[in-house]
Amino acid sequence: MSNGSWEKIYVEQGRVQIEVLDSVIKAAELFSENNFSRILDLGCGTGRHTYYLADKGFNVHACDISETGLDITKKLINDAKFENVDFSVQDMYSMTFEDESFDGVLCIWVQGHGTKEQIEKGINEIYRVLKKGGMVVTDFVTTDDPTYGIGYEIAPNTFVGGSPGEEDIPHYYTTREELEKMFKAFSEVKIKDKVYRFNNLNGKEHKIVALLVEARK
Ligand SMILES: C[S@@+](CC[C@H](N)C(=O)[O-])C[C@H]1O[C@@H](n2cnc3c(N)ncnc32)[C@H](O)[C@@H]1O
Repeated sequence: MSNGSWEKIYVEQGRVQIEVLDSVIKAAELFSENNFSRILDLGCGTGRHTYYLADKGFNVHACDISETGLDITKKLINDAKFENVDFSVQDMYSMTFEDESFDGVLCIWVQGHGTKEQIEKGINEIYRVLKKGGMVVTDFVTTDDPTYGIGYEIAPNTFVGGSPGEEDIPHYYTTREELEKMFKAFSEVKIKDKVYRFNNLNGKEHKIVALLVEARK
């Protein structure tokens, strides 16, 4: 659903997101503390976090629905001569991996794109591909975000047209209570407030009011 627009952004602009997010630095620490080795970078985009995880020594599988995003990630990884990364095009709502394939899943700045039903499907898919005891670190935009309510509401709490540069991409806004329900199948769930501040594609300062979820199968 959102792939067309990201594909277009990557074709036109190449590597758009470069700085490693602090939430990913902490996720990598969590994966290390748990002695995880096989990590899925789900919705890898142009690979900034794939590179970071590979550089930390994890065996990473990088996937995205955008072929151009994945090609840019492959080039970044191949230029660095990392040999601990493999790649595939995947739709996070129906992935082709076997059950229990990964120790850890990183899914950062991806989940807000789609409808509530799709997000629930995506969470079920993450649960399926995680090994028992494995963990996901992922984040969601909340109804407290400044862009909430902007654009067309195509489904409850789902808006199109709210973010500059992402005019065609649906954004879903959630709450802590809703996430508690969505992650019910997981054995341990931590939901933390998280505000991201960054310059958006037009160089303008922007913030995302999010919730960061760390959940163990
Ligand atoms: C904001 S970018 C973030 C990329 C990367 N996680 C990062 O932090 O740099 C969102 C990414 O989610 C991907 N994406 C959107 N819908 C997807 C889907 N259904 N399955 C897999 N990837 C998807 C997009 O193609 C895009 O690369």
